[in-house]
Amino acid sequence: MKIPDIEIPLIQLPLEKDIQLFLKREDLIHPEISGNKFWKLFYNVNSYLALKPEHPFMITFGGAFSNHIAAVAALGKEFDLKTLGIIRGEEMTDKWQANPTLARASDRGMDFRFVTRAHYRDKVALTQTLEKEFPHALIIPEGGTNRNAVQGVRHMLSEQTKSFDYLCTAAGTGGTVAGLSRFAEDHQQVLGFKVVDDYSLYNRVLNLSQRQNFTLPEAHDGGYGKITGENIRFINNFKLKYGIQLDPIYTGKMLRKLFELIESGYFPTGSKILAFHTGGLQGISGANELLRKQNRELIKL
Ligand SMILES: Cc1ncc(COP(=O)(O)O)c(C=O)c1O
Repeated sequence: MKIPDIEIPLIQLPLEKDIQLFLKREDLIHPEISGNKFWKLFYNVNSYLALKPEHPFMITFGGAFSNHIAAVAALGKEFDLKTLGIIRGEEMTDKWQANPTLARASDRGMDFRFVTRAHYRDKVALTQTLEKEFPHALIIPEGGTNRNAVQGVRHMLSEQTKSFDYLCTAAGTGGTVAGLSRFAEDHQQVLGFKVVDDYSLYNRVLNLSQRQNFTLPEAHDGGYGKITGENIRFINNFKLKYGIQLDPIYTGKMLRKLFELIESGYFPTGSKILAFHTGGLQGISGANELLRKQNRELIKL
């Protein structure tokens, strides 16, 4: 993978307060390996390919709507690597074709193995079995989060991001917030908006970042993947107001919570805040299919 030769725009989102808020459109880095996924995979893939494997093969884990699965499948196609997705939920075995994320991933050449939720939770055992079966494969953890991912996230920071007081991202498996925390300037505070109800996240991030310059505000609306009506309305209004599409699982939740914090006076007057648009837009069609079945308001595309 190469560092793309494009300037990532920072878009100002005007506020009625004396606080400056900008959105860094990291989602524009690649049409399918979008946002933080590109950077989390960057050193993982490059260090593996540097070993010149005879039959490059990548294995990773994710749920049926996973942005990470979508990104790995696209990467496999672009860089000529075979890919295997270990997918949470055996019930998908005979209906994955109807899932837009998995159908597209398959189209990009990814094979799947569907495992029970209990089996999926035990990643250590699952990984050991895969390592025995595929000793030459690159096995990447769920969400791509590991030390290489943290190094990659450094590229989301630049000269332009140095003047901000706060750096904000959605946090799932924690690799992105850990990378921002690790490489932030000394004067910067990092906020990782937790879209998962996971108490182990703080220690995982701390372990990867080795710094205490971050907080993890709750933004999950009751659990990973929960989509409330408020969330949908926020995303649709945001698009009308700023012309930027958000997703319902990560960026929509982060920005809604960030606006709430701004309103509540959390940030001192004069603060400069930078939020990262980490992509995830591929997940909207799957989310809309579920919402349609539930007869609910849809996310406008
Ligand atoms: C769109 C989007 N934003 C944020 C995240 C959270 O990243 P992390 O798992 O590194 O916390 C993800 C997951 O990769 C994602 O797909």
